[in-house]
Amino acid sequence: MDLSDKHIVLGLSGGIACYKSADLCRALVKLGATVQVVMTAAAGQFITPVTMQALSGRTVYGSQWDPREHNNMPHINLAREADAILIAPCSADFMVKLAQGGADDLLSLMCLARPMARVPLLLAPAMNREMWAHPATQRNLRQLQLDGATILGVGHGDQACGETGDGRMLEPTELALDMVAFFQPKCMLGRHVLVTAGPTYEAIDPVRGITNLSSGKMGYAVARAAREAGAQVTLVSGPVALDAPRGVTRISVRSAREMHTATLAQAPSADFFIATAAVADWRVANSAEHKIKKDGSGQMPQLQFAENPDILADVAQSERARSGALFCVGFAAESQDLLANAQAKRQRKGVPLLVGNIGPATFGQDDNALLLVTADGVEEFPRDSKLALARRLIMRSAELALSLESTGASHA
Ligand code: C5P
Repeated sequence: MDLSDKHIVLGLSGGIACYKSADLCRALVKLGATVQVVMTAAAGQFITPVTMQALSGRTVYGSQWDPREHNNMPHINLAREADAILIAPCSADFMVKLAQGGADDLLSLMCLARPMARVPLLLAPAMNREMWAHPATQRNLRQLQLDGATILGVGHGDQACGETGDGRMLEPTELALDMVAFFQPKCMLGRHVLVTAGPTYEAIDPVRGITNLSSGKMGYAVARAAREAGAQVTLVSGPVALDAPRGVTRISVRSAREMHTATLAQAPSADFFIATAAVADWRVANSAEHKIKKDGSGQMPQLQFAENPDILADVAQSERARSGALFCVGFAAESQDLLANAQAKRQRKGVPLLVGNIGPATFGQDDNALLLVTADGVEEFPRDSKLALARRLIMRSAELALSLESTGASHA
C-alpha cells in the first residue's frame, strides 16, 4: 500500500468541504496511512469529531489545553510524530493565520511548531470563488508557498453557495493521489516525459478495424509514475478504457499515423520518450469509405496493407535523441525468446534502453515482469504491479539518462 509507512496529521479548518474530509480520511487509511485528525472549533460546526474518530480510529484533537497528553503539549507531540501535515479543507481565514504565524488554536499552533525541515505542510484550500480570487487570498497563498507550504490547488465547478467557479476543495480521491505522489522521489523534476500507450486502431471501413489486446495499463502506469516523479507528462494514447492519470496531459489518437504525428510534434520539447504503445505494424491501404457488405458471392473482400511508420525509430533517429538530449525507451512485447528479441530490438531501434515483457502474460493484467536491456547488460524486474514496475523503470531511466549525460557516451 502506497502510504503504509506514513503517519499523516489531517487538519480540518472551517468550511462546508469538511464533509469531504470524512472520505479523505477513509481514503488515506485505505492506502495504509495512520491518520491523526486535528480540528478547529469552526470545523466542528460542519462535521463532528465523532465521525472523524470513527473513520481514523483515533481520538480527535481540538484544543491546545487537551489534558490527555502527558506533557500537556499536543502541538509539539502531534507535529513531531507526523510524516506530513495536510490541512483539508484549508479555509481563507486559516490561510491568513498560517501566513501570519498565528497560534491561538491547536491546529495553527501545531503548524507553527512543526519541525519545518522534516515535516512538510500541504494545503487543500476550499472557499467561495470570490474569496479564492481575492488579492488578499492570492497574496497569502504566495506567502505560504514562499514559506515552504505545498499548495495542492483547488477544483473548479459548482459551489455550495450556488455559484460556479474556482475554489472547491479537490475531491478526496484526488487529494489521496496527491499525497501518494508527494512521497515519491522526485527524480524527474521539471523534465518533460512523452509516453505512447495503448493499441492503435486501423480502420477497414467506418465500422470495422484491426486492433490488438493492449489495455494501455503499463503505459498509463508509466505516465503516472513519471508525473509522481515531478515531470510534466504528455501521454499520446490509442483507444483504451482508462482515465488519464492525474496531472497528465493526454492526447487521444486512433491510428498509428495519428499517433506518429502527435508524438513527433511533442518530441522536440521532450527529455524522455517512453514508447509503450502496441502500434499496428500495418494499416489497411484500401480501407472503404462506406461499410463493406456481403455480396452473396462467398468471396472475402481483398484487403491490401501498407506499413505504418515506426514512431520509436523515427524519434530515436532525431538529432536530439542521437545527441543524448532525448532519452528513448522502447518496449518489446514478445511471446518467446524475450532476451534475444529484446537485445535485437534495442539495436534495430537505436535506443539506449529496451524493456522486454511477455505480451500474452501482460496484456490486460494489473501486474507484469520486465527485462531491461541496455548496452551494458540486462536487469530483471520480477513480477509486481504495473505501477510499482513503472516507478522502478522511471527511476532507472532517470539514472541511465544522467550517466549518459555525464559520460557523453553514444547511447545505442
Ligand atoms: O517493432 P516492434 O513493434 O516490436 O517494437 C516495439 C517498440 O516500438 C515499442 O516500444 C513500440 O511502442 C514501438 N513502435 C512504434 N511504432 C511502430 C511500431 C512499434 O513506436 N510502428
